[in-house]
Amino acid sequence: MIGEAGTTPFQKDLRRHLRERDEDRDLTRVICELATASRYVIHSIRTGELGVAGTSNLYGETQLALDVLSDRILQKRMKYSGVVAKIASEEIDEVICVNPDGKYSIVYDPLDGSSLVDVNLAVGTIVGIYEGQEPLSAGNKLVAALYILYGPRCTLVYSTGNGVHEFAMNALMEYTLVQENVQMAPSGTIYSPGGQRNQYTPGVEKFVSYLEEKGSKLRYSGGFVPDINQVLIKGQGLFMYPHLKNAPRGKLRLLYELNPMAFLIEQAGGAASNGRQRILDIEPEGIDHREPIFIGSKEDVARAEKFVAEFG
Ligand code: F6P
Ligand code: MN
Repeated sequence: MIGEAGTTPFQKDLRRHLRERDEDRDLTRVICELATASRYVIHSIRTGELGVAGTSNLYGETQLALDVLSDRILQKRMKYSGVVAKIASEEIDEVICVNPDGKYSIVYDPLDGSSLVDVNLAVGTIVGIYEGQEPLSAGNKLVAALYILYGPRCTLVYSTGNGVHEFAMNALMEYTLVQENVQMAPSGTIYSPGGQRNQYTPGVEKFVSYLEEKGSKLRYSGGFVPDINQVLIKGQGLFMYPHLKNAPRGKLRLLYELNPMAFLIEQAGGAASNGRQRILDIEPEGIDHREPIFIGSKEDVARAEKFVAEFG
């Protein structure tokens, strides 16, 4: 965009955005370090070789080298920040103590959807930030959350509890503001359904039929970050990874995946539920806690809860 006098208008970057909103200095530090880490992650995705690292994570999934690499990159930056106390990462089976004097503890999925890299679909990093020393906490204690989407563009979406803001990486690998205060409509026309349909319970099956009858279109990529980003940035719709007949707790992890996204979607005026209860109010039983999720436009989530309550 060209300004009046032929000059390019100044694009606000992430650090300046955080400063102008008077965010805590240490929290600003954590968020900016994560943004820096993502430059290395996107570089690794775009140039890195795919391969099996030879280890498997807590959940028995084979780790691609990129998972391991992304985890190392994030850990290093978090240690270097000097303000992070503890870290829980989806790729590590215990909480790591980084700095006993750190003000914040963080939970993250360093490279969600990494099995999609070999087919060149979008993947992402998801992060939740707590004040204090306890990363194993309910989502209602989060002070901030963000995700980075490595798609055709690299975008970063964050909230510190004062709205949801979207940034895009420019040619200098800096994040500049795209939009502030993203808001979701109460009801949507797209849906993104995870899990195998023949494993859906009667309640979930009836809910899907309801969405189809209302004219909602299916928009599913198989990557949690791009699928959530789609409903958030379109400002309407619903993502679900429900309880299944063969997986009653669903698939996605409360700590690393669901809580940060629930925080962001609620901040945008949406809702997130496991079908019976608000996601952010669930006390984690362990770092590997899984929950079903229905997340997005408020009325669609409420409708899912109604079908689940009635038909299971
Ligand atoms: O947690 C990893 C993940 O790949 C998410 O990004 C995605 O929503 C989900 O799992 C898809 O799982 P599946 O293909 O096994 O149903
Ligand atoms: Mn994941």
